[in-house]
Amino acid sequence: MAKPHIAFVVGSNRRDSINRKFAQALIKLGADKFDGSVVRIDDLPIFNQDNEHNLPPEVARFKDELSKADGILIVTPEHDRSIPTVLKNAIDWGARPYGKNSWASKPLFITGTSPGAIGTAIAQQHLRAVMVSLGTIQMGGEAYVTFKPDLIDANGNITNEDTRKFVQGFLDKFVALVQKLAA
Ligand code: FNR
Repeated sequence: MAKPHIAFVVGSNRRDSINRKFAQALIKLGADKFDGSVVRIDDLPIFNQDNEHNLPPEVARFKDELSKADGILIVTPEHDRSIPTVLKNAIDWGARPYGKNSWASKPLFITGTSPGAIGTAIAQQHLRAVMVSLGTIQMGGEAYVTFKPDLIDANGNITNEDTRKFVQGFLDKFVALVQKLAA
């Protein structure tokens, strides 16, 4: 297959989100092996089941972008020891209406970064359970990244060599999984 397309879903709507910066650094690092882009979720309205058969245009666009992805990488912060509201909102729109679950059978990996030492571990734990229920094909392994102010430089490169190698490792494994499943 040609370079797979990986959709990055960032669980933050904050202007200077460290998770968006991290996602963009991942896209840059993996550019020779996959074509990646961040899917917008900050414009999605609050989920309301009344509208699931008459989707707002932003939601239709979001679901269309998910459906076109060969694989999905969620890069999320942890809010109050769980999944940020903006991400759960996007997940629920993606899952509905019944029979049109845009997450089903998609290869998925979850990562995230926070200034704290646990690096989003509890949010990821909750997210894994949610995304199993939606039928994603999750790659094993865990990737919790503690964000230090100099982790990513002005050009969007990961500065720490150990972190870069670790990140490159899960990106390579994920691309291999996506390609295997597409074959
Ligand atoms: C946080 N933050 C946080 N961090 C953490 O490690 N565990 C947590 O449970 C929480 N809880 C939490 C709740 C709320 C409402 C906010 C706004 C923040 C801090 C969080 O890691 C920090 O704000 C990051 O910068 C958020 O990531 P983005 O939005 O910059 O990508």
